[in-house]
Amino acid sequence: MTTLSLIRWLVAAIHLLALGLGLGAIWSRRRALKGLPDPKNLQRAIYADTLWGIAALLWITTGLARAFAGLEKGSAYYLASNAFILKMVLLGLVLLLEVWPMVTLIRWRIQISRGEAIDTQNAKRLSLISAVQTTLVVTMVFAATAVARGPAF
Ligand code: HEM
Repeated sequence: MTTLSLIRWLVAAIHLLALGLGLGAIWSRRRALKGLPDPKNLQRAIYADTLWGIAALLWITTGLARAFAGLEKGSAYYLASNAFILKMVLLGLVLLLEVWPMVTLIRWRIQISRGEAIDTQNAKRLSLISAVQTTLVVTMVFAATAVARGPAF
């Protein structure tokens, strides 16, 4: 096995592991946010949010490397693929939807560390956003598997 094929293999494995981690994390965050203001659920929401952040980082770094660093079929293939463009649009939506939850949960983390009370009145709306993001990630898996199979699958 060459070094390049080892890297390709490991990066592909991490990309898929991020799916397991991220999908579980965003669904757990949805459930925990729905269960607020119970303090047990506040800890759960923050833990799930950390895992979701790690998954996003892994997805984007390994995904960019696979698509544009020549690890798979090459940039030209992906940029000509409608399914890849759809996957990136879906990713854009997930990231756009993440702005408000991310800012809110960072604020909560700071307030917890200062021993301040948390205002959870928007928790249900944040939970709904996590549910929509879950659906978008599932849709991304359909787009990703279409990308891998080529234009005429
Ligand atoms: C929520 C984020 C993501 C999810 C759920 C996801 C999901 C997947 C899945 C399931 C595969 C395997 C497809 C298969 O082998 O049948 C895959 C492959 C791939 N993904 Fe992602 N991905 C994500 C983010 C990204 C990003 C941000 C990029 C690039 C910018 C990317 C680029 C790729 C590439 C190049 C492949 C290989 C496709 C091939 O075999 O030709 N992914 N992705």
